[in-house]
This record gives sequence, structure tokens and C-alpha cells, in this order.
Amino acid sequence: MQETFLAPDFEPAAHWETANAGGCRVHVRVADNRDLKDIDALLKRSYPGLMQPAYAPDVLARALPWMMQANPELVTSGSYYVAEKDGAIIGCGGWTCTAPGTGATTEGLVHARHFAVDPICAQTGVGRAIFERCVMDALATGATRIQALSSLNAEPFYERMGLRRFDLIEVPFGSDAGFPVVLMEGPLKVRETRA
Ligand SMILES: CC(C)(COP(=O)(O)OP(=O)(O)OC[C@H]1O[C@@H](n2cnc3c(N)ncnc32)[C@H](O)[C@@H]1OP(=O)(O)O)[C@@H](O)C(=O)NCCC(=O)NCCS
Repeated sequence: MQETFLAPDFEPAAHWETANAGGCRVHVRVADNRDLKDIDALLKRSYPGLMQPAYAPDVLARALPWMMQANPELVTSGSYYVAEKDGAIIGCGGWTCTAPGTGATTEGLVHARHFAVDPICAQTGVGRAIFERCVMDALATGATRIQALSSLNAEPFYERMGLRRFDLIEVPFGSDAGFPVVLMEGPLKVRETRA
């Protein structure tokens, strides 16, 4: 299996809408407000278990109630996606031009937002399928780079997506101590896979 990264002017084929994850077909589509409840449920299934190996229990106990809520503005932004298999939502994630927290914008830079995968599908390619859809759509707007405030557990995932660690920072949750995340950034590139 050979993997090649194509230049940003690569013309995507229509079938990128449907991605191959772990040998099974998942459908990645733009989310809308009818998905809010299912996304909320997915976040609550995904975050506690998949984040648990990377954080102390008290840190998670403080941060999870904030992090496990679907953000209606993000979900209905047009650049937030769900991955479906057999009609069930098994993954979600998206991108924005504005930075989470500050709302700052930087020309050419987009931000990966609120990725989650059902634990029973973890590491079968669902996160990649959503990330690649983000890349396709962000490239079409003229953006060239993507940044992520990655949870500690998700750093290997974003590394595989071509991002690199810039910093280890703490984001504030409520008035308590911060939540450690990895600031990562990389080029927006489309992956071509050749057998
Ligand atoms: C991060 C997350 C979205 C990744 O989704 P996923 O569907 O498991 O990722 P994929 O299966 O598409 O993995 C893509 C690549 O990253 C690698 N990868 C993913 N998670 C990994 C992990 N925890 N450790 C090592 N490698 C990992 C995969 O092995 C795969 O490698 P490959 O390119 O060699 O095939 C998922 O683990 C998750 O929902 N985590 C909990 C929520 C969270 O932390 N979200 C991020 C918020 S910033």
C-alpha cells in the first residue's frame, strides 16, 4: 500500500463523500440541527473512555461536563460532519475559520473542532474519514493549514493526519484549573491511497 499526499489543487472525486474506514463503508455528511441529540450522545459515549488513559480522574471530572456537550452553533455551521454506518452516527468532527475560545482568525488557517468516535469503532478509520472530509472542504475555501487543540490522547491521531506539536497548553474550564491540551498544526493535504 502506497500513500501519497497530493497538492492542494488536487481535484476531488465525488466519491470522497463516502469513505472507506477499516474495510467498511462509512458515509460522511454535513451535520444539521436534527443531529444534535445523537451527537450529544456520541460525545458522552466517546470522551470518558477514550480520554481516561491520558488524564487524571479529577481533571476529567472537571472538564468532561463542558466537553461532552454538542455545540449547536458548531454543529449547524455547515463545516461540521457526522460519519454514519447503517444509519447510526458513529463519528463527528469539523472545522472552523475561527479559533476555539478566542474567535481569532488567521488568513489561510482553519481549526479542527470537536472530533469524537464511538469507542467500539475506535482506530478503524472513522476519525480519518471525517478529517479528510474537513481537509477537502477547507481546501476549497483557499485555506492551507489546520490547527488543533488536541486532547493528550488524540495527539497520535492528529500526528497521523500530518499535524505536529507546537506547544502544551492549558485551556480554562470554568473558574478551576485548566485542561492540558496539545497545540498542533500542519498543512491541509489530501491523501491519495494507491494499492
Ligand atoms: C481522536 C479520535 C477522534 C480518533 O478517531 P479514530 O477513528 O479512532 O481514528 P482513526 O482510526 O481514523 O485513526 C487514524 C490513524 O491514527 C491512528 N490513531 C488513532 N488513535 C490513536 C491512538 N490513540 N494511538 C495511536 N494511534 C492512533 C490510527 O492507528 C490510524 O493510523 P494509520 O494512519 O496508520 O491507519 C478518537 O480516538 C476519539 O474520539 N477520541 C476521544 C475524543 C477525543 O479525544 N477527541 C479529540 C478532541 S481534540
